[in-house]
Amino acid sequence: MTQLFDLSGRTALVTGSARGIGFALAQGLAAAGARIVINGTRADTVDEAVQRLRADGHDALGRAFNVTDEHAVAAAFEAWDRDEITIDILVNNAGIQFRKPLVDLELADWQRVIDTNLTSAFIVAKEAARRMIARGRGGKIINIGSLTSEGARATVAPYTAAKGGIKMLTRAMSAEWAVHDIQTNAIGPGYILTDMNQALIDNVSFDAWVRSSNPSQRWGKPEELVGTAVYLASPASSYVNGQIIYVDGGWLAVL
Ligand SMILES: NC(=O)c1ccc[n+]([C@@H]2O[C@H](COP(=O)([O-])OP(=O)(O)OC[C@H]3O[C@@H](n4cnc5c(N)ncnc54)[C@H](OP(=O)(O)O)[C@@H]3O)[C@@H](O)[C@H]2O)c1
Repeated sequence: MTQLFDLSGRTALVTGSARGIGFALAQGLAAAGARIVINGTRADTVDEAVQRLRADGHDALGRAFNVTDEHAVAAAFEAWDRDEITIDILVNNAGIQFRKPLVDLELADWQRVIDTNLTSAFIVAKEAARRMIARGRGGKIINIGSLTSEGARATVAPYTAAKGGIKMLTRAMSAEWAVHDIQTNAIGPGYILTDMNQALIDNVSFDAWVRSSNPSQRWGKPEELVGTAVYLASPASSYVNGQIIYVDGGWLAVL
């Protein structure tokens, strides 16, 4: 049974993993046996995250790059090619939030949110999948969606459009790459306690709304996404493709 979820001998790139959900997923994939590649925008915080994993006895390396910069992403993969580091598991996790009513939203802000949350998944997965296909040993791609992959809320339109796009991009990747034994799936987290939500956590009325409208009546913790990520990264999901699994405390189950 443990072999079903064993990631030994695999290397997992988790984008945006210097902190938050990405770091928790990196820790979980490492605990399941994977070598981890940490990513974020800053070399210093990427290095700190790598050191934390190594201090726990895990195999980890890091590379800072902007996931929206196709040249930087290509350069990272070319460097790993030279070092014979193969990315077997990709988690497209890097993301940002930006809150503003649609009528006040500047095009540049719309574009930045779409680029970071949606286009980046295309840019990074394209580099990863090309190599997975050439190696002929399959692979795993996990895109991070959101409750907004299913429903909208006011003031987060570009994020909602991007995360809705993530759901369909996951299916599009499956349509092309499943034949190469690459399983592409997504995780849709509910409201999770991370820096991204700090302003909402500190807002007494929003915090109360999260607790009252969620059947679990609490926020989720980043580590509660690990089980689903390990499943989707492991042999246990070898015939699962194009799905988005919501880890939301039951949020989408109720009206
Ligand atoms: N928290 C939630 O409730 C929630 C719910 C649903 C979905 N999600 C999704 O889960 C993912 C992680 O969210 P989080 O809450 O953990 O966010 P977070 O704590 O704000 O961390 C975001 C991470 O993404 C990285 N990042 C942002 N822009 C990047 C870029 N252009 N290039 C490379 N890395 C970049 C950040 O790097 P730096 O450290 O260098 O800034 C950071 O490591 C996101 O896709 C988010 O949309 C979160």
